[in-house]
Amino acid sequence: MSKELVKELFGANAANYVVSDVHAKGASLARLVELVGPGADWQGLDIATGGGHTALVFAPHVKRMIASDLTREMLDQVDKQVAEKGIGNVETKIADAEALPFDDGSLDLVTCRIAPHHFPDIPKFVAEVHRVLKAGGTFALVDNAAPDEATNPDFGAPELTEAAATYNTFEKIRDPSHHRAWTTGEWLASIEEAGFKIEHTELLPKKMSFDTWIKNMSVPAEKVPGLAQMLNDAKPAFAAYIQKREDEKGLGFTIAELLVIGRKAG
Ligand SMILES: C[S@@+](CC[C@H](N)C(=O)[O-])C[C@H]1O[C@@H](n2cnc3c(N)ncnc32)[C@H](O)[C@@H]1O
Repeated sequence: MSKELVKELFGANAANYVVSDVHAKGASLARLVELVGPGADWQGLDIATGGGHTALVFAPHVKRMIASDLTREMLDQVDKQVAEKGIGNVETKIADAEALPFDDGSLDLVTCRIAPHHFPDIPKFVAEVHRVLKAGGTFALVDNAAPDEATNPDFGAPELTEAAATYNTFEKIRDPSHHRAWTTGEWLASIEEAGFKIEHTELLPKKMSFDTWIKNMSVPAEKVPGLAQMLNDAKPAFAAYIQKREDEKGLGFTIAELLVIGRKAG
């Protein structure tokens, strides 16, 4: 069900994700390239590529990037950019993150940015990334991290569990194809369990415009006041995480973006 919703909602809003600032210009894009240090002979795969930003930022540094996604309309947007910019080493392929159509040990790099919160089975996705990477290959992950002691160390476990549930509800009301954003603790445990050595982790604050966040998913008007009200009604742990602001640009909030670099044993 949620994969059908992903295709329906991202299919209808594909062009929005090409121009969305947090996707096209977010700080994690350049930071990923810096931390990964890609090799010129590498074959890379970007999973759930959306508007293609991660695949396109790595393309000048590697031999080949495959930009993959569940949603055909997103890949059409990537193909359009590749053709317009005359990029010769990016190809697109329909692929489910949890069942990758690639051979074992065939890739040097797998990236996945701001997408796993849509995947129903994250351990399956991480196992698939591990399977398709060569020994010594790099997994570069970015996703919105739900609150836990890594994002908000001043709060106790019960308040943080409630704040994580509130954050996921907030996202799911806006985008019914949102499955669940994991916490930093859950991610690190799962990536290690799959057999990766974690080489680097960091949390980056991502400032969001409420209006753009709403427009990107064409949220029905009747849902908007309730979402704004959730920011006003936030209990202390969720309030500390989401950092509601109101300034000349309008209503805004902040999400923690988790960045992890993992290495498959060589
Ligand atoms: C927010 S966009 C991704 C943003 C993009 N990675 C970037 O860096 O700008 C989320 C994407 O995840 C894709 N997606 C969701 N579930 C998926 C799955 N199970 N397998 C592959 N792609 C999926 C959607 O089609 C959508 O294009």
